[in-house]
Amino acid sequence: MRQLCGRLREDHIGQPVTVKGWVLNRRDHGGVVFIDLRDRSGQVQIVADPDAPGPFEAADMCRSEFVLEVLGRVRVRPEGTANPELETGQIEVLADEIRILNRAEPLPFQMDATEIGEATRLRYRYLDLRRPSMQHAIRIRHRIVSTLRRYLDEREFTEIETPILTRSTPEGARDYLVPSRTSPGNFFALPQSPQLFKQLLMVSGFERYYQIARCFRDEDLRADRQPEFTQLDMEMSFMDEKEIMALCESMIRSVFKSVLDADLPDPFPRLSYREAMARFGSDRPDLRIDLELTELTDAMKPVEFKVFSGPANDPEGRVAALHVPGGGTLTRSQIDAYTAFVAQYGARGLAYIKVNDVPKGREGLQSPILKFLPDDVLEQILHRTGAQDGSMIFFGSGRREVVNDSLGALREKLGADLGRVDTQCPWRPLWVTDFPLVEWDRDEKRWQALHHPFTAPRPEHVDSLEHRPGEVLSRAYDMVLNGTEIGGGSVRIHRPELQQRIFDLLGIDAESAAEKFGFLLESFRFGAPPHGGIAFGLDRLVAMMCEMESIRDVIAFPKTQKASCLLTEAPGSVDPVQLRELGLRTKTQRPG
Ligand code: AMO
Repeated sequence: MRQLCGRLREDHIGQPVTVKGWVLNRRDHGGVVFIDLRDRSGQVQIVADPDAPGPFEAADMCRSEFVLEVLGRVRVRPEGTANPELETGQIEVLADEIRILNRAEPLPFQMDATEIGEATRLRYRYLDLRRPSMQHAIRIRHRIVSTLRRYLDEREFTEIETPILTRSTPEGARDYLVPSRTSPGNFFALPQSPQLFKQLLMVSGFERYYQIARCFRDEDLRADRQPEFTQLDMEMSFMDEKEIMALCESMIRSVFKSVLDADLPDPFPRLSYREAMARFGSDRPDLRIDLELTELTDAMKPVEFKVFSGPANDPEGRVAALHVPGGGTLTRSQIDAYTAFVAQYGARGLAYIKVNDVPKGREGLQSPILKFLPDDVLEQILHRTGAQDGSMIFFGSGRREVVNDSLGALREKLGADLGRVDTQCPWRPLWVTDFPLVEWDRDEKRWQALHHPFTAPRPEHVDSLEHRPGEVLSRAYDMVLNGTEIGGGSVRIHRPELQQRIFDLLGIDAESAAEKFGFLLESFRFGAPPHGGIAFGLDRLVAMMCEMESIRDVIAFPKTQKASCLLTEAPGSVDPVQLRELGLRTKTQRPG
């Protein structure tokens, strides 16, 4: 019977064993050949001694990644040759027979290389996945998923699959379309999420649904975005936001405990959207960083300095400061680099004040903008930010979104650059709640749902829907972990009349609502229970728990930033016959 390489121990000494796996490396030590044999459990050292010519000759022929079956006997390693780094480091297998089950050509990269270009890794993903770090990540992913499933099964959730070939769903990204052969000229859309189906399942009476669901979004990609990604998708009936949030955070706590043995806070802290934006410039703040924004809009209204007073007096403007204790040591060229950094977020500049000596007032400060600010305003700035000697104060002034985006990003960058990320408490989850229901789209000049059009408004705000929509708060919640949004959801609208009012507000006319979501609206007329749900970005959660930079590193076969697969070369061209069957023609094709 086969034993696993990584599980052999001193207990096995003297026993005959059969191990199978891949040659991690082969070393010829003047007559004796050593092979490190690797399988899913780890590795063990095989010794081929010249006294046994059969295995010795076979070992001599072996190269990296050959597949072997080795029959031998476990023995203790000779004095002084034990490897305490390895779990099998006290023993080795003296080979009686080595069977080469398969050969391997020279590899495009070495398994133990540290720097392998991502394009090469993705092109040869099946080899990349053999590497221990990738094996570890994919196995952790499996453990996370199985822990989530167990948690939800124990709480009477039913896992239900929903269609992949469907209609457009309301998440707001571009759809992936699939042409229909049987209905020429018509298209399926791949789901951006199972949103509509999971709400229908509530109408169907399942009460507690979940699914490890693949979602498809044709959007610009980043390290934490893939065109197809996985959600842990959930929906519950007869539960309000408090109950849903309590269940979800307990589930996330239990996953961290069982997979990483990490304790997360109980309960998770909560921040309103307004407070998160005011203090961190972001609705997904990284709470490990101890830097905060300070509001200065009101203080800057009367100053003559237009750079500050303009936005301060504009209802859509904001002036805020980012106080960096100890930041006074930043050099001119570092400040220039941060100025270029915030420019990427639309900031036109990065004003600053270096604080040398607080009690000296103006004389103790250093900045090109001092001359534009009166004493009382300077005093306000020092007082509100809590600046000390050696501090740096950066300023953001402009359109509110630009100030929030640029100072929010600067806060995270400075936090990382200046070592202000708390490592004592490595996991800082929180809920962000009280989102506005809608936001004004300046380009399209209309209200857009901040989450999606099925998100319920707070009951006490429903009366303001038509005349003060911007002030209506929703019953949505996002779970944020260390600066990443790992999940988002809401209590839904379950009454057709209210849903219609929201569609009216969003400018979705009855005809297009009926065309896009008619089946959902219809279902609401037949006894829809109050319900709500959430979806977690599983890839993001796994990447964080594996401490991987990119979600590509926790997806077995991911796409590149250009949404292509280097392994299969998808997307690829198709046979013109296939196109003809679908009634399609590409632009480069001549009519025929
Ligand atoms: P939302 O669009 O917020 O909500 O998505 C939920 C979570 O999915 C993750 N996510 C992504 N992960 C990788 N690549 C992407 N392109 C990507 N886009 C989103 C994020 C996000 O928090 N139907 C609603 C949920 C609900 O209301 O129940 C939805 O899909 O971690």
